[in-house]
Amino acid sequence: MQLDKGGHKHFMAKEIFEQPVVLADCLSHYTDAGGVTLPQPLDFTQTDRVILVACGTAYYACAIAKYWFEQFAGIPCDVDIASEFRYREPPVSPKATALFVSQSGETADTLAALRYVTEKVDRVVSVVNVPSSSIARESDVALPILAGVEVGVASTKAFMNQLGVLANLAIMAARQRGRIDAVREAELLEILHGMPGLINQALALEDKIAKRTARLAEAKSVLFLGRGAMFPLAMEGALKLKEISYIHAEGYASGELKHGPIALIDKTVPVIVFAPRDALFDKTISNMQEVMARDGKVWLITDAEGAAQAGDGTWATLVMPTVDPALAPMLYAVAAQLIAYHTALHKGTDVDQPRNLAKSVTVE
Ligand code: G6P
Repeated sequence: MQLDKGGHKHFMAKEIFEQPVVLADCLSHYTDAGGVTLPQPLDFTQTDRVILVACGTAYYACAIAKYWFEQFAGIPCDVDIASEFRYREPPVSPKATALFVSQSGETADTLAALRYVTEKVDRVVSVVNVPSSSIARESDVALPILAGVEVGVASTKAFMNQLGVLANLAIMAARQRGRIDAVREAELLEILHGMPGLINQALALEDKIAKRTARLAEAKSVLFLGRGAMFPLAMEGALKLKEISYIHAEGYASGELKHGPIALIDKTVPVIVFAPRDALFDKTISNMQEVMARDGKVWLITDAEGAAQAGDGTWATLVMPTVDPALAPMLYAVAAQLIAYHTALHKGTDVDQPRNLAKSVTVE
C-alpha cells in the first residue's frame, strides 16, 4: 500500500490532523438512531468487573476508560499493563469481561495476557485497529477502531479512536445497567459526536502551542499533572514527549505532587497542567500554585473559564475549547500530541521512527 504524508512533514503530523475525520468515521460506526450500536452484541448487565489490559499508549487509553466504566456504568474496573498482568497471576471472576486494547493487535504481552484469561472469564473483548490481527482473532468479540493505517511509532489517532470506542462501550454499559436513561445516553452521545468539531478547534491552536515548545526543548525534565481522567492523560502526555523528543518526562496525579515530585521543582522544570474547568479544578489550581511558589514554570492547559479563574502568574496558558469534563481527555490529548510533536521538531529527532522504539512489539 502506498502511503504518503498528505503534505505534512511527518506521518505523525498527518495522523494528528486526521483525527477529526477518523474519529467521526469511528463514532458513526458505533451509533445509530437508537443509541450505541456494536458490530456484535455485548451485554454488560451480568458483568461484575471490567478488566482492561494493554501496553504503551493503549494502556493509557484503558486508564482513562476506567473512569468512564466506573463513573458512567458503575462497574468496578481494573487496569493492567499486559506484562504485569499475567505474571501477577491475578484471580479473575468468571463474571468479568476482559478487554484488550491494541493498535496492532500483535503486541506479544497483550496477546499472552489475553491467552491467560481466555478460559477464566466470561468474555474476552478486544479493541483493535487491525481486524485480522492475532488479538482480534482470539477474542470473543473484536471491535475495530477504524483509524486507518498508523505509521508514526508514537500513537496518536489510534489512541483517539480507542477512546472513542471505549467511551461508546461505557455509555452502552451504563444504559444496560440502568445507570442512565435514554435521554442521558443521547446527551452523552451528542457530546461524543461533537468531539471531532472541538478537535478541529484544538488543532487550530497549533501555532500557539508551537511557540512555547522551544523552551520545552531545552528542558532536561518535564512534569505533566492532571486530576481525575486527566491524570492518565498526563501520563500519556509524558510518554509522547519521551518517545519522540527524548526528554525525560513524568505524568503525575496533581494530588501526589506533594508526596515526592515537588522536590524536583525549580525554574528549569516546566510543569504542564491539564485542567479543564471541572469539579476538581480548584484543587488542581492550588497544586499549580504550589509549583509556581517554587519558581516552577507552569504551562496551564485549560478552557476560557479556567483561564479567567486561574489568574496570572503562569509561564503560559493555553485556552482550549470548552468541553464537557466527562470526555475532556479526548480533546486535551490533541494538546499533548502537539506539544510533543513541536518539541521534537526543535530537538531535530526522527519523529516517525524514534530511536530504540518499534511500532509493534512482538517479543516480550
Ligand atoms: C509500542 C508502540 C506504542 C504502542 C505500544 C502498544 O511500544 O511504540 O506506540 O502504544 O507498542 O502497541 P499496541 O499495538 O498493542 O497498541
